[in-house]
Amino acid sequence: TPPKNWLEEQVSPEERVWLVLATLFAIVFLSAFMGLWHLTGRQTTHGEAYRVDPASFRQEVLAFAERYQVGELNGIPVVAPPPGDVYLMAQAFSWYPVLKLKKGETYRLRVASVDYPHGFSLYPHEWSIQLYPGYEWVYSFTPTKAGEYALICNDYCGLGHHLMVGRILVEE
Ligand code: CUA
Repeated sequence: TPPKNWLEEQVSPEERVWLVLATLFAIVFLSAFMGLWHLTGRQTTHGEAYRVDPASFRQEVLAFAERYQVGELNGIPVVAPPPGDVYLMAQAFSWYPVLKLKKGETYRLRVASVDYPHGFSLYPHEWSIQLYPGYEWVYSFTPTKAGEYALICNDYCGLGHHLMVGRILVEE
């Protein structure tokens, strides 16, 4: 009698072997990704996102920079005492301000775009986050190496996109 449905069809022994091998391979492959990569990989950290009005975020950033800026010129690092809030504002085509932080201290990093979507990528921590105007992202941030960190926009945002590079200075 012919089989009633595909479940009852005969499977040849050779095919059964390959089915088992393929299943095992899928299990090993998936656990390598979901388990090993999760434990040993360098993922973007988990943050929180809140709705924010871009204009009021800009005001907060300017007030923050004014409070902690050393010197009067743009580009002078903002030295914020830990463990407080530190701000980064993305706008076409720059990051503001330049932060000066202490290695090993933990800060509350607040990042937002005030105009277009930008990509927030931080090296050497290897974070990569997409910023949309109207939201701020809040991260617990502990710089683990001294030196100059690079902030790069990883989302095409216009003619000056390639110029959108910022810095965080980390002191011992
Ligand atoms: Cu901002 Cu690309």
